[in-house]
Formats: sequence, C-alpha cells, structure tokens
Amino acid sequence: MKSINFFIETIGCQMNVNDSEKMAEILSGKGCIQVKDVHQADIVIVNTCSVRFSAEHKAYSLLGRLKEQKENNPNLVIGVTGCMAEYAAKEIKARCKFVDFVLGAKKTDLFEETINRFLHTQSARLSVRPADDVFKYVTIMRGCSNFCSYCIVPHVRGPEISIDYNKILNEINTAVDNGIKEIILLGQNVNSYNYEGVNFTQLLQKISKTDKLNRIRFMTNHPKDFSDELIEEISNNKKICRHIHLPLQSGSNKILKAMNRKYTYEQYETLYNKIKNKIPDINITSDIIIGFPGETDDDFQATFDASRKLQFGGLFIFKYSPRPKTYAAKLKDRVPLEIIKKRHTALLEDSNIISKNINEKYLNKTVEVLVENIDNNVAQARNSQNIKIFFDCDENLKGRVVNVKINKVLPNSMSGILQQ
Ligand code: SAH
Ligand code: SF4
Ligand code: F3S
Repeated sequence: MKSINFFIETIGCQMNVNDSEKMAEILSGKGCIQVKDVHQADIVIVNTCSVRFSAEHKAYSLLGRLKEQKENNPNLVIGVTGCMAEYAAKEIKARCKFVDFVLGAKKTDLFEETINRFLHTQSARLSVRPADDVFKYVTIMRGCSNFCSYCIVPHVRGPEISIDYNKILNEINTAVDNGIKEIILLGQNVNSYNYEGVNFTQLLQKISKTDKLNRIRFMTNHPKDFSDELIEEISNNKKICRHIHLPLQSGSNKILKAMNRKYTYEQYETLYNKIKNKIPDINITSDIIIGFPGETDDDFQATFDASRKLQFGGLFIFKYSPRPKTYAAKLKDRVPLEIIKKRHTALLEDSNIISKNINEKYLNKTVEVLVENIDNNVAQARNSQNIKIFFDCDENLKGRVVNVKINKVLPNSMSGILQQ
C-alpha cells in the first residue's frame, strides 16, 4: 500500500513551529510520512500567522500555488491552521474554496479528529520513531493578556494561560530521555508564568534539576514583568543560556504609552543595565516597531539613540502593520510608507554595525557550542549566547558540545575552526 505523505508549511513564531511539530507527530503516529517537497504530498497543512500583513500575504500566495496542485490532483487534502485561520476562517473559505478544512489556533486540540475524517485508509497507531533533534520547544503558556495596542496575538490566541508545571516537567523528561539536549520554553510573556503559585523562576529551578539536560532557553520576555529574582537565578544557574530576548519596541515614551507597553524607556534602560551588570556574559536582543501611528522624527530619533546606547547583540526591526481587531488600527495619524522604509533602513544599517562590533570580541577566542546539525560536512552550532556558529567537520558531532575557535564574524553569525 502506498504511504500517505504530508507537508507542513509553518509561518510565524515558535508557537506555530511547536504546533506544527505536534501536528506532525499526530500524522506520523498514523503512519503518514513527512516530505520536504510539497509536490509529493497527499496532505498539505498551511500553519498561518497574522502578526503582520506580510505573513498573511505569504499564506495566500502559497494557497494560490496549492490551488493549481489540487487541480492536477483532486485527492490532495489542504488544511489551513494557526492564527489567521482563527480569525479569518470565513475569508479563507471564501477566497480559497479548494481548502478542505480551516482550524484556528485555539482549536489545535481538534486536529486529530479533523484529520481522521480525511484518513480513511490507516487508523492504527504506529510507533513514532523519535526524532533525532538536539533541541525541543516546550510551550509553557498559551495566549496573551497584555493587549499591546498594535498586536493581534491576544485576539487570535486568547487570554494568557499557564500550563501545569507537572505536565511541562513530564514533557521535558520524555524529551531528554529521547536524547534532547536543549529545551526552549515558549510563551508570549514567560515572565508572568504562574501555575498554582509556582512562578517562572521556580519553574526554571524545577526544570534545571533534570539530569542530562544541558541547556535551557526561554522566550519571550516582557520588560514590565522581568523580576530581580529571575536575574539572580540566571546568573547563578549554569544550565540557563546567556541570552535574553527583551523587546523594547520604541525608545520614545509617548509611543510606548500609545503601544500600551506599560514601561518607560528609562525603566527599560535601568532593567537592561541591571541584567548586564549581574550577568556580564549575557547577550540581549530586542524587537523594534518602526512607524507606529504618530511616530515623529523625534520619536524615531529616540529609538535610534536607544539602539546606539544599549548596544543590542541583535535587533529585529519590523515595519508597523495595522492589524484587524487591534486598537492601534483605528488610530488616524499613520506614518507614510516611504518614511517608514527610510527609518527602517537607517536603523537596520546602524544596528547591524553594532551587532557585528559586539560579535568581534569573539575573534580568535575559543567558544563552547552545541552542534545542532551537520550538512555537507559543515556543522551548524550555537553558543550559550544564541549566536549561530558554523565550522567544517568530517565526523558526526550532532548533539555534542565542542570548542570552536572563531575566525570570522558577521552581524548574525560567526564561523571558526573545531578545536580537538
Ligand atoms: N509576545 C512577544 C512577541 C510577539 S510578536 C513580545 O511581546 O515580545 C513578535 C514581534 O512582532 C513583537 O515583539 C513586535 O515587535 C512585532 N509586531 C507585533 N505586532 C506587530 C504589528 N502589528 N506590526 C509590526 N510589528 C509587529
Ligand atoms: Fe503581542 Fe504584546 Fe502579547 Fe507580545 S506581549 S504577544 S506584543 S500583546
Ligand atoms: Fe505567533 Fe504569528 Fe500567531 S507571531 S502567535 S503565529 S500571529
């Protein structure tokens, strides 16, 4: 009997990556085979994101190509899942009549029974071969209740819910037993984790007791909830990686207020310096939105100055995109696209120079890395600071911790020579 092949396209953040992994596990458990070429698939899942217009555009472009594929193969099953499927199911069904099912991000629990309707042939559960991955995402919180005024996430993912730490610990133990070396904890604001009185710092303490687990990472942090206790824990706990993603969004207090971020630039700077002083080898990265309604040249200058002053290890810069259901989408004072583009380029160029300068301190130094993948004798690894490091190697070092001497530095990655 011919096997059933499936292909999953994941758009968006790690939450979606994690949901895709779960869907893949379910399909593999039913004997289906994951393929890398969409043209070989019998089932295609498009796991969508709605955080910016461009993410939605990407999903519709892919669906447009799938329409043709379905015309050639009417048995093809096409499913749309994720955040766009949550709030725009009607529009997707209307625009893409060839789609077989639409299942929103809040209903991922229904994926198995939904897909069963299309899997007439095989229902017996086969044993799933454990993936030989090095790291694993573990969702510790769902949804978000912060309602930053530009953001659609609370509207599509629902209110913030912390997951039972017993479940989290079980998931981590199983993963580690299957050879996972690094765990990446996921939540839209991990700093507000609280399950029956256990806060995020206490959760980290529980997780770090897991033997054989080398590294713990987490994302994303919200400056308003980042506690002193957590800084102390990171500084004392060697299993916790030296990387904190701490989105600033803007350097202007007027814009931060309009964004409903609930901190001032000065409070952010104080927190930033406290973290840097307590954990000297920390790498802090950030997110910025350019062109929020009402952003003047002075507001942008404040963001530009903040980037220069704080010297982030990496900066993700997004052009503001008005999102349905959000408060900011109703604001009138829109910044023209040409100005947004100009500000975006100016900040991107400057921040790339900063990140590269910061990475240059690694030149000729030996760093410890965990090897994540080997492709054509080139190893891809990461140091504790979350910087990607490439090096040539002819043995299978996947999952191993090795030393690499850095000889080349770019803004977002480095390369070097394996030290025996
Ligand atoms: N919960 C996380 C991440 C949410 S989405 C946090 O609060 O940091 C990731 C990033 O996308 C955000 O940090 C923000 O910089 C950006 N973003 C969210 N909504 C946006 C919008 N409407 N337009 C442009 N960028 C946006
Ligand atoms: Fe969106 Fe703000 Fe929640 Fe992050 S914290 S997901 S930016 S509402
Ligand atoms: Fe993530 Fe995009 Fe949804 S950023 S939570 S997949 S809207």
